[in-house]
Amino acid sequence: MEEIRIVLPKIPDYHKIEVYENNGGYQSAKKAFNISTDEVIDIVKKSGLRGRGGAAFSTGLKWSFMPKTTDKPKYLAVNGDESEPGSFKDRQVFEDNPHQLIEGILISCYAIGAKTAYIYIRGEYHKWIKLMQKALDDAYEAGYVGEKMKEKFGTDFYCDIYIHKGAGAYICGEESALMNSLEGYRGYPRIKPPFPAQRGLWGNPTTINNVETIANIPKIIENGWEWFSSIGAQKHPGTILFGLSGHLNKPGVYELPSGILLTELIEKYGGGVLNGKKIKCVIPGGSSMPPLRGDQLEGIKMDADSLRDAGSAIGTAGVMVMDEDTNLLKVLLRITKFYHHESCGQCTPCREGTGWMEKTLKRLADGNGTPKDLDMLESVANNIEGNTICALGDAAAWPVKFMIQRFRNELEEYLKPEIILPVKNKVHSMRNTVNPLSTILR
Ligand SMILES: Cc1cc2nc3c(=O)[nH]c(=O)nc-3n(C[C@H](O)[C@H](O)[C@H](O)COP(=O)(O)O)c2cc1C
Ligand code: SF4
Repeated sequence: MEEIRIVLPKIPDYHKIEVYENNGGYQSAKKAFNISTDEVIDIVKKSGLRGRGGAAFSTGLKWSFMPKTTDKPKYLAVNGDESEPGSFKDRQVFEDNPHQLIEGILISCYAIGAKTAYIYIRGEYHKWIKLMQKALDDAYEAGYVGEKMKEKFGTDFYCDIYIHKGAGAYICGEESALMNSLEGYRGYPRIKPPFPAQRGLWGNPTTINNVETIANIPKIIENGWEWFSSIGAQKHPGTILFGLSGHLNKPGVYELPSGILLTELIEKYGGGVLNGKKIKCVIPGGSSMPPLRGDQLEGIKMDADSLRDAGSAIGTAGVMVMDEDTNLLKVLLRITKFYHHESCGQCTPCREGTGWMEKTLKRLADGNGTPKDLDMLESVANNIEGNTICALGDAAAWPVKFMIQRFRNELEEYLKPEIILPVKNKVHSMRNTVNPLSTILR
């Protein structure tokens, strides 16, 4: 697989404004400001760029939903909340390439007609918030952002960028919760429609895009849509920042063309599994995506369509690798505990269902499961999926549903054989880790 860098170029000190400028930095914004906004949107549409925040939606198409004729202010919100377990790639952009993100924001704001952009950064990312703020301050001082842009770029257009720090809630990464949070309200997702382009921040048209998505924009403008669309998978082109974690020799963030084989990603880039063990399970796109069996990874490509066909999804491309010794019940319990904890509580299926699933899995993990528990878990997951305001419900349901579907035999090992006790002519079903017979029969 050819190595190509778009978002994280291998240039020393690229995060510094002078190095970025010396390598053609901020020239793409200049180029974009000299063509019409429609043309910019058209280039991004034709490039085939799809959002890197989880849903892989066409970026150009999303931009085209922004109303053209409106007196209302428009906004861009850049999503750097990055709180999904297994996802840690946007922070690499904050650290290594903040100016390309800023330049991407300038071009995006121009295209959609926004004069204000917010970069919403995960609250725990203290270090990266500081790095990003430093880059933004430098860009302001150099005249690339704010009113001075008019002079710097010789254009009427200018915009302001603000960094907003999250406060530790995963749900605030969901685009409508993010907007509520930015407005100063509790991070509750909103019912859609209306969609953000119709009614977003403070009731005004808003576009929300992921950090990595926006960081691609300057290079698309610089090199053209044909160049971008020819990289990687045809229907999901470009590079992807793959976050490799788990039982690997070389975990980390790797920028590689989309469509790379999952096995190549693990073996060549992740350095293979620790201690030469076999793979039991891989979650290919962050903890909410359906897990894949280790013995069925051959031929799976890492792009949205291929992963969908393989029964999973690209999500945030956070690839979590688990070796043959992993206790998947504990993994599932940990994942479910996270979603239960992060559920905002607005919808009953998510609020109650995540709690039920956690309690049931805990009981299984404690050795007190019944044979019907796995069916019940599947049923609860099915009742959450698709029945909630936001996709956190699906995010909680999928790991449970698909882990049971794909690893049922393994999970069944945690179920103890049923003890049938005849008590007063009735048949009672008992189960316990401590043998209850002695006390009951005494
Ligand atoms: C519970 C939840 C958390 C999310 N967290 C993030 C996040 O941290 N970063 C992100 O970019 N998208 C996140 N998303 C997806 C966003 O709602 C939205 O689709 C995305 O920011 C759009 O950007 P894109 O089109 O560039 O991918 C999350 C979605 C859900 C349901
Ligand atoms: S699905 Fe869960 S997190 Fe999303 S709005 Fe409903 S209760 Fe809140």
